[in-house]
Amino acid sequence: MKDAVTSPLVQADGSLTNPGYMPGFGNDFETEALPGALPQGMNSPQKCNYGLYGEQLSGTAFTDVRPERTWCYRIRPSVKHSHRYEKVDLPHFRSAPDIHPDVTSLGQYRWDPIPHTDEPLTWLTGMRTMTTAGDVNTQVGMASHVYLVTESMQDEYFFSADSEMLVVPQEGRLRFATELGIIDLEPKEIAIIPRGLVYRVEVLDGPARGFVCENYGQKFELPGRGPIGANCMANPRDFKAPVAAYEDREVPSTVTVKWCGQFHETKIGQSPLDVVAWHGNYAPYKYDLRNYCPVGAILFDHPDPSIFTVLTAPSGQPGTANIDFVLFRERWMVMEDTFRPPWYHKNIMSEMMGNIYGEYDAKPQGFVPGGVSLHNMMLPHGPDREAFEKASNANLGPDKLDNTMSFMFETRFPQQLTQFAGKEAPLQDDYIDCWADMEKKFDGTPGKK
Ligand SMILES: [Fe+2]
Repeated sequence: MKDAVTSPLVQADGSLTNPGYMPGFGNDFETEALPGALPQGMNSPQKCNYGLYGEQLSGTAFTDVRPERTWCYRIRPSVKHSHRYEKVDLPHFRSAPDIHPDVTSLGQYRWDPIPHTDEPLTWLTGMRTMTTAGDVNTQVGMASHVYLVTESMQDEYFFSADSEMLVVPQEGRLRFATELGIIDLEPKEIAIIPRGLVYRVEVLDGPARGFVCENYGQKFELPGRGPIGANCMANPRDFKAPVAAYEDREVPSTVTVKWCGQFHETKIGQSPLDVVAWHGNYAPYKYDLRNYCPVGAILFDHPDPSIFTVLTAPSGQPGTANIDFVLFRERWMVMEDTFRPPWYHKNIMSEMMGNIYGEYDAKPQGFVPGGVSLHNMMLPHGPDREAFEKASNANLGPDKLDNTMSFMFETRFPQQLTQFAGKEAPLQDDYIDCWADMEKKFDGTPGKK
């Protein structure tokens, strides 16, 4: 079959063109890779320019109060990128419910970074699910994954009908070549790939490792700012959607689909990344976490970590998120007469954390870049002994918390460990001991501190 590379997506040497982006969270974008490819003033003309097919991708029900949809003008309609399906197995890529009788999910857990091996792994074969929550079949809950990717997908494409994917790189650079354009991603950035969008993942610098939050529920949105007002935290203009880019490649290809927690393959004769122009508000996007402007206490005491929410995916219960994505990054600590690290607590929400780089203030040791911790629903946790003693006795001048970037996938649902997380991943058996030597200070003496 002829491999006709005539696309602006691919250069003569086979590499992809530089990506371009359009700013603004949830904007109604329009973009075309060829002049005049995008119809103006209407969505569905009798004949589209260049002989393209018009097609709508709907991310919400038609009658949603805030419909999210994108009109695509493509070389072939998507029905040509879908043939008979055969189930395939990706044993480490799990979906909720995934509960194992011989794995104990109740506990405070921490893992070292999952090491790379000699085995070549793609975005699909390298996905290692750590926890699942809720139920993929009823579109509630989430899964957390660590990806280990060493190989680019070759004439291989993927979409998840189950989920929106929040990608948090920790090591290496990846390229997401999607139907709607190209996103290049590196550590300190995140990307969101919407449900149903077809894409291929390539390794720009490997090996690549990072974290994925798979959101089964309503899409991520910016959190309500309340009295904070219009500025700081994550500003809408810093979110970037890709410009249109397409491939016109006639080559045998495979599309893998995640659907109701199961994987299915279909064989087609061309690249499905053939959208020449599009407009709409349902699109992938990226965000540079260095643009996140933290807001916090500037006199005394310690606010809830929700103050650091970058994105939130609502549930059916107002104020109670299916997922919050929370960022703990560099910031000044200035609070007077205050225990500055996170306080000890139990939480109805369950907290999966990952370290992107540096040192986390509540756990100076053991929670290392690439590592993961889990503090599940209603399980107590807080600073370790070292962090407690240091913070309790520090001279409280202005102090820059530097070289630190960790995040949390927090969900209203309890998180269940996968077999991989419980039995294969590098679990730190002694994590629970980080609180073992917390001493009893109380002896009834008034004024003792
Ligand atoms: Fe917590």
